[in-house]
Amino acid sequence: MIGTFLRKRTVRVGILGTGVVGATLGSKLIQIGHEVKMGSRSANNVKAIEWAQQNGANASFGTFADAAAFGEIVFNCTAGTVSLAALSSAGAGNLKGKVLVDVANPLDFSKGMPATLSVCNSDSLGEQIQRAFPNARVVKALNTMNCRVMVEPSLVPGEHDVFVCGNDPQAKARVEEVLKSFGWRSIIDLGDITAARGTEMILPIWLRLWSLSQNRHFNFRIAH
Ligand SMILES: NC(=O)c1ccc[n+]([C@@H]2O[C@H](COP(=O)([O-])OP(=O)(O)OC[C@H]3O[C@@H](n4cnc5c(N)ncnc54)[C@H](OP(=O)(O)O)[C@@H]3O)[C@@H](O)[C@H]2O)c1
Repeated sequence: MIGTFLRKRTVRVGILGTGVVGATLGSKLIQIGHEVKMGSRSANNVKAIEWAQQNGANASFGTFADAAAFGEIVFNCTAGTVSLAALSSAGAGNLKGKVLVDVANPLDFSKGMPATLSVCNSDSLGEQIQRAFPNARVVKALNTMNCRVMVEPSLVPGEHDVFVCGNDPQAKARVEEVLKSFGWRSIIDLGDITAARGTEMILPIWLRLWSLSQNRHFNFRIAH
């Protein structure tokens, strides 16, 4: 059953990305009993080596392709403007049939702050990834909050929401299981992957709120 996918057994997870998001998600997944391989452009990335050393026997590292091949579920935690390149390195064959959780935001910092979105309005990074890798089951999730909040929603008091969207209902159900195992209670399914336009375009508001408060540990709550 989908509902037992994560709770009843150890799952192999591929994390594409050696930044703070990949490290935070990878460490949390190990803490709750899974095996994680962190991927990078190089097989011996210093940050990936250090992360694996800090996270014990269930943590390993390699190239993007190694991590994608390893994972039953794969998380895209690369910089959004280069995610398509990173996923190409990971390899379409290694992503085929897999749940690909896209956590990335297409933020372009090349002209300074505030960052702009490199794709928006009539397209999104989530859609670009799904089009480029039609055999991967892309689910956009967790990109609308700081990475500490992703894995520890109780850092933000009260009820607040995480959004998911994607074309494959079973893939979304699996991701919802992951989110519940992180402690999420309010998960809003926005529908197909085109909803990634909205969850990516919320980033300018997120960045403004952060610059006003200097506190990263906040989130959105949809009141009905
Ligand atoms: N920071 C947060 O709390 C937060 C919250 C929500 C969403 N996000 C999103 O999560 C993603 C990851 O953020 P981050 O700060 O952890 O990491 P990041 O610095 O945005 O990205 C790091 C990863 O990008 C890869 N990369 C850089 N240039 C590349 C290129 N030319 N080709 C292929 N790969 C390349 C790096 O590869 P190497 O390993 O080889 O160096 C590394 O694995 C971003 O899209 C960000 O917008 C962040």
